Amino acid sequence: MCPDSAVPRNEASVPLDRIDVSDPKLYEDDTWQPLFARLRREDPIHWCPESQYGPYWSVTRYDDIMQVELDHANYSSANELGGIQIATQAPGVNFGNFIRMDPPRHTEQRRTVAPIMTPTNLANMEGLIRQRTNAVLDSLPRNETFDWVDLVSVELTTMMLATLFDFPWEDRRKLPYWSDVAVANINAPDSPVRSDAERAAELTRMAEYFAVLWKERAALPPKFDLISMLAHSEATQNMPVPEFIGTLGLLIVGGNDTTRNTMTGGLLALHDHPDQWAKLRANPALVPSLVAETIRYQTPVIHMRRTARSDAMLGNKQVRKGDKVVMWYVSGNRDESVIPNADSFIIDRAKPRQHLSYGAGIHRCVGDRLADLQLRILWEEILARDLDIEVMSAPRRIYSNFLRGYRSLPVRIRA
Ligand code: HEM
Repeated sequence: MCPDSAVPRNEASVPLDRIDVSDPKLYEDDTWQPLFARLRREDPIHWCPESQYGPYWSVTRYDDIMQVELDHANYSSANELGGIQIATQAPGVNFGNFIRMDPPRHTEQRRTVAPIMTPTNLANMEGLIRQRTNAVLDSLPRNETFDWVDLVSVELTTMMLATLFDFPWEDRRKLPYWSDVAVANINAPDSPVRSDAERAAELTRMAEYFAVLWKERAALPPKFDLISMLAHSEATQNMPVPEFIGTLGLLIVGGNDTTRNTMTGGLLALHDHPDQWAKLRANPALVPSLVAETIRYQTPVIHMRRTARSDAMLGNKQVRKGDKVVMWYVSGNRDESVIPNADSFIIDRAKPRQHLSYGAGIHRCVGDRLADLQLRILWEEILARDLDIEVMSAPRRIYSNFLRGYRSLPVRIRA
């Protein structure tokens, strides 16, 4: 048997066959590290026969995660088989979208949105992102405690999303709200929705709002925003309503939570490692490598799940057709056999981009370069202003085994 409330979750002496890393509390309390260190060492491909999400395999080492990622023919993301999260979503909120598809439909739909992330388009957006980042940083209170998550991380990523969708500016805070609704664990004390039915109702309201924008854009000549691109592409223009909701949800969560949590996680990591802060101040050219390191160290997406289409050997373990296979990016990113001193935060690593936070293979994050750009600008502008940011107390983390994130981080900027 795997879970047992009598066994402390963060105790490295739990019998191996009872280790279950799926409990969201592990991530809310940030106590997951010793369990994964043990699995990587003693049982890197680990079978948990019973958990609140049913039986599942845990893939915990970097190279094994890569193997699953790259074998998309066998390790499927398809919604019909269970999708990409350890928790199989309840019927009614089980909206399809292209992260939950295999080829060929995945390929067609991904192709529709990918052009917005080309290097040329990103270069065109850089000025606007910098201008907004400057405005946000200049508006922050001095010598007064405020929440970094709300005033910086959420604000900046919301502005970015509103730009990508060309979304009505005054309503932009609806976007992070819908993102929270889409991913909330309904058992979390601060969940914005209390049941899957409530979630479905809120997301339907989101779809109604977007449907108006969609119809307007479909009637106009194509332009360069995500709604217009989806409304004019053959692969996506006639999506059924659930898939329409699911695709918006994917873009909103993808473009929002992950970057937002890296903005907060980066500040926290620098606060916890003053030697790295000093190194950065002394050499601002380290910003791109700092960005890559914060993305690795934070690992905003905790896991992705696949379902085996047929029996296969993974390492020395026999995976059976239909088995749930969970790739724990948080663990792969701490794999010492690939990343030296993986538990340490080091902003000038020899290979800073060697991490799994963006996944790999055909589903590798489509927004990676945009996230890198937003984070780079944020840190460049913080350094340009020489902001002295003090973390006032511990962050409140979210109750989730899927997204590693923060509800709040109290900080103060010394004038
Ligand atoms: C630090 C920021 C980010 C992280 C850590 C992140 C992480 C990820 C991960 C782990 C995946 C799945 C990869 C896999 O299954 O192999 C993914 C997919 C995706 N991400 Fe991101 N992401 C980030 C930012 C963004 C942004 C800014 C956007 C868009 C505005 C975005 C849109 C997407 C989309 C659409 C997919 C689905 C790709 C597919 O299925 O082909 N992400 N992301």
